[in-house]
Amino acid sequence: MSVISTRKDGDVLVVTSNNPPVNALGQAVRAGLAAAMAEAAADDAIKAVVITCEGRTFFAGADITEFGKPPVGPSLPEVIDAIEASPKPVVAAIHGTALGGGLEVALGCHYRIAAASAKLGLPEVKLGILPGAGGTQRLPRVVGVEAALPMIVKGDPIPAAAAERIGLVDKLVADDGLAESGVEFARSVIGAASHPVSSARTDKLDTSLGDAFFDEFRKTELRRLKGFEAPEACIQAVRAAIELPFAEGVKKERELFGKLVSGTQSRALRHVFFAERAASKIDDIPADTPVLPIAKVGILGAGTMGGGIAMNFLTAGIPVTILEREQAALDRGVAIIRKNYERSAARGKFTAEQVEQCMARLTPTLEMTDLADCDLVIEAVFENMEVKKEVFTKLDAIVKPGAILASNTSYLNIDEMAAVTKRPEAVLGLHFFSPANVMRLLEIVRAARTAPAVLKTAMALSKKIGKVAVVSGVCHGFIGNRMLSPRQQAANAMLMQGITPWAIDDALTDFGMPMGPFQMSDLAGLDLGWDKDSSKGETIRDVLCERDRRGQKTGKGFYDYDENRRRTPSAEVEAIIAGFVAKSGQAAQSFSSEEIRNRLLFPMVKEGAKILAEGMAQRASDIDTVWINGYGWPAYTGGPMFWADTIGLDVVVEGLKAFGHEVSPYLADKAAKGERFNG
Ligand code: CAA
Ligand code: NAI
Repeated sequence: MSVISTRKDGDVLVVTSNNPPVNALGQAVRAGLAAAMAEAAADDAIKAVVITCEGRTFFAGADITEFGKPPVGPSLPEVIDAIEASPKPVVAAIHGTALGGGLEVALGCHYRIAAASAKLGLPEVKLGILPGAGGTQRLPRVVGVEAALPMIVKGDPIPAAAAERIGLVDKLVADDGLAESGVEFARSVIGAASHPVSSARTDKLDTSLGDAFFDEFRKTELRRLKGFEAPEACIQAVRAAIELPFAEGVKKERELFGKLVSGTQSRALRHVFFAERAASKIDDIPADTPVLPIAKVGILGAGTMGGGIAMNFLTAGIPVTILEREQAALDRGVAIIRKNYERSAARGKFTAEQVEQCMARLTPTLEMTDLADCDLVIEAVFENMEVKKEVFTKLDAIVKPGAILASNTSYLNIDEMAAVTKRPEAVLGLHFFSPANVMRLLEIVRAARTAPAVLKTAMALSKKIGKVAVVSGVCHGFIGNRMLSPRQQAANAMLMQGITPWAIDDALTDFGMPMGPFQMSDLAGLDLGWDKDSSKGETIRDVLCERDRRGQKTGKGFYDYDENRRRTPSAEVEAIIAGFVAKSGQAAQSFSSEEIRNRLLFPMVKEGAKILAEGMAQRASDIDTVWINGYGWPAYTGGPMFWADTIGLDVVVEGLKAFGHEVSPYLADKAAKGERFNG
């Protein structure tokens, strides 16, 4: 059956797309739409057309899998032009998400109605491109430049009601009976003297907007998007909408689109899109594995992590019981949760009422027996195996049979924790990242005996709380922290070669990481695990701590900090490091920023390859997903493994050897064969 079908409802032709899962505008859909428009044109009895979609959503965009392949016509711009050129009014009836090419189709229609629950947007920028089917030219003409610019440059969809307010949607309708509402609306406009044609509109275009307006927008909005190429191209395209006639604006849009779509950033960002979705699939779990109901969650420890983890569930509407050892710690933990919610509310993320609803779902307790009826208990107590084992033994005795027991440990062995329980099949790691209510990543640690249903339940739950989940095997530090360790070693080694902490950190921030290893140490505190009494000034860290340079909290660490926590290089630290270098007898070195970066990142790729070879990650793209969502690795490079693919595994291997690393046969072999990590 064709993905596009047509039926007549009196004098209205209803054109329906049925291309699951998201009605992406692949070739068959485009051809079907073009044929439907021709059918409408040829039939004198037809006076209007309604375009609508079956399934969960209106067209969610171009078919991303077609990018980079030879185009097969008709092209999306051709189809949209044909819709717009129809003398018979065309109505888009939107539900779900009208995204990218989907919204561009809707903009080609003369009218748009939307179900109240629908969302509309141009998210192309997130794929490293811009709307390439006239969207950058039509949207400003329909809603004005000021409303269109953020939608195109930032790519966040807006709710139907907001779309109606700015004139993007002509009418909001009930979620049910959308096609009928479309037909009714179409009938109401048949016979109108003329129908609005988006590309011909000038009423909303403020042509007086110039440099000052766009520069201000760059200043306020582009800081967060540093390093990304597409946002600036989006701005240029929107500018063309006010400076050029439609046809020339479209030409400009095409030109910018062409450059972006064939570039490395867009390839990387498309990889990231599919990587996130692939990560949610666990290869060896049968499709009919059940998902267990999680109606109530218990959390042990209301410290840094416990509180943040609790917020995820409270926000998603799942009641949480949180346990501490002492009243004071419990009160402190609960107060921080409230403060975090209130801060978010002040920024408009929640209403005051929602804050109260979330807090009402939280039950603080000092009694472990209060966790008995939880479906899932996550422990976030101290990082110590003996403490964890004690907690798991007690939980196993108290919590109802079948309930899942999880650890938020950063490094420790989940199998050992599972072994002290009588339900090892219900034990796994749920490794959240700090701040746990904000960071998108969740590492799901699959222990030797974790049952498929438990794993699948954790995966489903992660989606419910808005996390990107990646499955890791049991190994020291799992995927993310395990790869952090060789980077830290490389950074420390370079210090001893006389490279400054700032040269090392800057090499990574220039690459696009939010901070380098020494900024991270200063943030965490250099005295974490350092003991004053046993310190003998043997390491750089010892000396820094002894001089009370313990990081941001003491105003100085590897850097000096001002009252706004801005870092500046420290002459004192430079002298301390120079002293250690001199003592070591090594000659001080000087490396380019690129070499520093490679010395830091190639060992991570090497560790990533080991993780893959050991089967600790299911696929290379999972490793990329971990680093992008858990550690701020720049998405426009695609993650560590994709980045290695881009520069060539042979280059990585040669570099590793030159830096004195041994290369595993797995990686050496891949490089020799000219293979990539990501297909
Ligand atoms: N093309 C191809 N496949 C797509 C797709 C697209 N545009 N959008 C989603 N899919 C696939 C996903 O890969 C996934 O496949 P698997 O089940 O095999 O993993 C499946 O559809 C379902 O997707 P989600 O798991 O993401 O489903 P969801 O319900 O959570 O979200 C969605 C649905 C909001 C539409 C989300 O998929 C999404 O944001 N899609 C991308 C939208 C987008 O970026 N559109 C712009 C495309 S570029 C464009 O249109 C350029 C242009 O101007 C010409
Ligand atoms: P924290 O020290 O801030 O909090 C731990 C809390 O657990 C304390 O409030 C303590 O009173 C409480 N606690 C200890 N034993 C308890 C018990 N038997 N019953 C109830 N409460 C108990 O520590 P943090 O940082 O929250 O770490 C917790 C766990 O999360 C550790 O395993 C850590 O490795 C892991 N983790 C930490 C991250 C971080 O960035 N801080 C990131 C990811 C994981």
